[in-house]
Amino acid sequence: MEMIDVLAICGSVREGSLNRALLHAAQDLADDPFRVEVWDDHSLIPRVDGTRGRPFPEAVGALRDRVSVADVLLLVTPEFNRSIPGVLKDIVDWLAILAPPRPLAGKPVMLMSASPNRFGGVFAQLHLADALRRVGAEVLTDFDVAVGFAHRHIDDGGILVGEEPRRDIAQLWRRVLPLVGEGKRAVPA
Ligand SMILES: Cc1cc2nc3c(=O)[nH]c(=O)nc-3n(C[C@H](O)[C@H](O)[C@H](O)COP(=O)(O)O)c2cc1C
Repeated sequence: MEMIDVLAICGSVREGSLNRALLHAAQDLADDPFRVEVWDDHSLIPRVDGTRGRPFPEAVGALRDRVSVADVLLLVTPEFNRSIPGVLKDIVDWLAILAPPRPLAGKPVMLMSASPNRFGGVFAQLHLADALRRVGAEVLTDFDVAVGFAHRHIDDGGILVGEEPRRDIAQLWRRVLPLVGEGKRAVPA
């Protein structure tokens, strides 16, 4: 089967982030044909200020191009006040601007989250899914991987060691495969 190119973005820029640990576990647990590349240029992305369209700031243009060619976008989000952090909202808003190549139109997107509380960030996933669907993204998963009490599942080295979340992630890759595998891939508009 052809390789499935997944671009993964974490919504946290915090050192010791639980969500970055989750993202790296998702990368490690992705078997063939998935190939997961982590995008980590948050510091280069300016705030969205309402000046829409081209020319995009260089890093924004590069991100829009990279997302456009990815087969799947994986967003791993913290929850801040039952929503997503501003840093991730800016990224989504830059990607959502309706100028060619329209990176989110028809784009298959997987969502994951981690939080120290019991709900694991499901409210953030709800908001994120809503924003993504509004601009025509195809949200493939929500709530499948929402790691509650995440600090108990992640060791001091930032490794997700919890058996249950690791099993959930592996299951999610298997479930997503037929949705994005050969012949079923969404074609961006
Ligand atoms: C401003 C702020 C608001 C927060 N609100 C929530 C919340 O609504 N729900 C929740 O589960 N955790 C909330 N938290 C706790 C975060 O889930 C926690 O800090 C988490 O570790 C952040 O993700 P990270 O470790 O990937 O950076 C909040 C944290 C901050 C700083």
